[in-house]
Amino acid sequence: MGEKKTDKVFIFAGRATTNLAHQVANIYGIPLGNSTVFQYADGEFQPSYEETIRGGIVFIIQSTLPPTDNLFELLMMIDAAKRASAEKIVAVIPYYGFARQDRKDKPHVPIASKLIADMIQAAGVDRVICMDLHADQIQGFFNIPVDHLYGSSLFIPYIREKFDIEDVMFASPDMGGSKRAGMYAKTLNNSFVICYKHRNKPNEIGEMRLIGDVKDRHVILLDDIIDTGSTICKAAGIIMENGAKSVRAMITHPVLSGNAIEKVENSALEELVTTDTIPLKRPSDKIRVLSCDWLLAEAIRRVVCYESLDNLYETTIHHKGVIHRL
Ligand code: R5P
Repeated sequence: MGEKKTDKVFIFAGRATTNLAHQVANIYGIPLGNSTVFQYADGEFQPSYEETIRGGIVFIIQSTLPPTDNLFELLMMIDAAKRASAEKIVAVIPYYGFARQDRKDKPHVPIASKLIADMIQAAGVDRVICMDLHADQIQGFFNIPVDHLYGSSLFIPYIREKFDIEDVMFASPDMGGSKRAGMYAKTLNNSFVICYKHRNKPNEIGEMRLIGDVKDRHVILLDDIIDTGSTICKAAGIIMENGAKSVRAMITHPVLSGNAIEKVENSALEELVTTDTIPLKRPSDKIRVLSCDWLLAEAIRRVVCYESLDNLYETTIHHKGVIHRL
């Protein structure tokens, strides 16, 4: 009695990002919500909350990487939460899949990321928390609040800890990422270069050229997604051919399809630093995973407390300081 409705906080996991959700709940300081998924013989499935969530704020953590069952599981969990009388439902989508389809750039194609935003809203969600969307404008596909977190909150403290900033310069593997590389360069007070990339078709690079001088510099390539690894491995090769001392990559979402991990291992890259928005398919000596658990836990805490997420977007925060406040 007397407890505000908003004091009842639940964190549930979809099956695509269960470990991450466990870590987030642990940092937030509550047990992960009890849910199950019943599997029918034909592959159909049905998620179920195994505890009452009536009147609570329900956070559902699920990346929507393929297969689309992951997306559908999120939609069903939102629907189930709505029908179980949750007061507020927040979809926490560390990796928002299908985000590369954010515009109609040729005839007869869908804008899949808009379609997915419509489906998530139709299911009954009140708010979305996501990370490094392929394009910022995807936020505008929703008519509800979207909290957009950035991988730079993890990568910039790592760069500061590990490198002599003077020696470092940033690179974008394509024109689309130049804003991101510019932001890192501005924050750390150094410079950046850009690769010009032309694709023959999705996942296949036709041509790549370097714009800028990387001679004798330690270069850090930045991107939102590594899928086949073609973009980043090709850019790394070109950067080394142009006289860089070393090249690394910091990429938020490790899609890593097919033989991408082998490609990274055999490339000019010294290291690929990524996050756990998608579970890594297998460990590799060249790949380091920084967890976004603390960032999501802190975002959840602020949403619950109606606190601003403003300085979460700053690239200079140190995670230990933030966790301490939970
Ligand atoms: C594309 O615009 C993205 O930002 C990534 O550069 C792209 O998805 C990487 O794909 P891949 O690893 O297959 O070259």
